[in-house]
Amino acid sequence: MNKTPQDNQGPVDVVIMAAGKGTRMKSSLPKVLHRLGGRALVAHVVDTAQRIGARHVVVVTGHGATDVETALGSGTNAAAPLFARQVPQLGTGHAMQQAAPLLPDDGTVVVLSGDVPLIGEDTLRALVAQSGGRRLALLTIRVDEPAGYGRIVRAPAAHEGEGEVQAIVEEKDASEAQRAIREIYSGVMAVPAQMLKAWLTRLDNKNAQGEYYLTDVVGFATVDGVPVVAHLTDDALQVAGVNSPAQLAALERAYQRRQADALMAQGVRLADPARFDLRGTLACESDVEIDVNCVFEGAVSLGAGVRVGANCVIANARIETGAVIHPFTHIDGEKAGVTVGEGSTIGPFARLRPGARLGAEVHIGNFVEVKNSTLAAGAKANHLAYLGDATVGARVNYGAGSITANYDGANKHRTVIGDDVHVGSNCVLVAPVTIGAGGTVGGGSTVTKSTEPGALTVARARQVSFSNWQRPRKAPKD
Ligand code: UD1
Ligand code: CA
Repeated sequence: MNKTPQDNQGPVDVVIMAAGKGTRMKSSLPKVLHRLGGRALVAHVVDTAQRIGARHVVVVTGHGATDVETALGSGTNAAAPLFARQVPQLGTGHAMQQAAPLLPDDGTVVVLSGDVPLIGEDTLRALVAQSGGRRLALLTIRVDEPAGYGRIVRAPAAHEGEGEVQAIVEEKDASEAQRAIREIYSGVMAVPAQMLKAWLTRLDNKNAQGEYYLTDVVGFATVDGVPVVAHLTDDALQVAGVNSPAQLAALERAYQRRQADALMAQGVRLADPARFDLRGTLACESDVEIDVNCVFEGAVSLGAGVRVGANCVIANARIETGAVIHPFTHIDGEKAGVTVGEGSTIGPFARLRPGARLGAEVHIGNFVEVKNSTLAAGAKANHLAYLGDATVGARVNYGAGSITANYDGANKHRTVIGDDVHVGSNCVLVAPVTIGAGGTVGGGSTVTKSTEPGALTVARARQVSFSNWQRPRKAPKD
């Protein structure tokens, strides 16, 4: 590459085009708000822009503009991008014209699409370097089926892909010969802001689609003697766009596979990387094992030796060293979080809700729900139980079918269960109530008053038996 005069790219500003309708999604949700790995497509792109150190990130919005702007945190957070509205949508060149007033002259502009979520940092850095403050750099790729894409037209050369880039020709404007070209424009470019802004004023819509094509800037560069460089990538995933539910699903699988591979490279043992979904972040210490069909959401961390059985959904939780989560367990800490202590066993079929804080060696069995409750070390609730707004002491045994009645229809109240308490089966602890340490609650009790430490409490009708009881008989028919 010709290095004189000196390359000097200046700061990077990113424009993300996201005004298009996405008709083929057949959805009322704007296309760029459909989710990949649990996050809006366009949010992935904004993240990547921020990771390459963009000075400004401008998102061009149109269809569903308010929703898109709200989703990206318009005005409310410091990391929110800037927005340029494009109404109506008259093409990619027109989209860039709306963004142009927000772009300082001294930078390099990187153009991205809100529906191409997996574009990589390294690729963008390389593209910016290729632009070097004085060239138009296009990200291109060779594909087997170029239909629908803009073709990269080069001057004749000895080898394919070596001639100078002269134009990008859209499918609908292309000649038969041009349609055969397999090198296509990915929709990503890096270009000095000053040049771009000048070229944008020269666009017209005299083409097959009657649109203002951003891709026409290539022709202007050629006329102006500005070098055009094509940066060829071989990573189709990075330039893959989402236009339909099928493409979204395919990209989701590819994305999940990439995340699964990264975890396995760290030593995480996934029973099947094809049956693993991470929609957020998963931090794993050594020797973690995850069986098939598990879904992780939000921020989850798993301590050393944690085992997660098949078909678990775990969100916003910290699972400490050596804990075992049996199959079909649902854990969601939402904002409050969930912690599962060292060596605890949870499930199968358990449900841990926000604010469940379990100490070491706690056992939560099948069909047990825990919400906003603290369980100290060694506490056990093995079957069919509810603990809500409760403080449970160490080594408590909480019987099958027992519940805390924490809600009086208007307010929630706490239940306190002291250390070493034994709650029998099928009890109702009507909060606010305290069961004194070491106490026992007889099965079937409805406890409405607090109890003394060490006491046996039985709060149910006394059993009565009538000897030789004759059941009623049917009258004989005549
Ligand atoms: C564009 C390129 C084509 C390239 C392809 C890669 C042009 C003219 N063509 O095709 O060479 O191969 O991308 O995918 O640029 N958008 C707006 N406002 C508009 C139109 C589009 O914001 O008025 C946004 C869309 O939401 C999308 C992006 O721009 O995020 C690309 O639009 P799309 O219609 O998919 O691109 P094409 O014109 O088909
Ligand atoms: Ca497209």
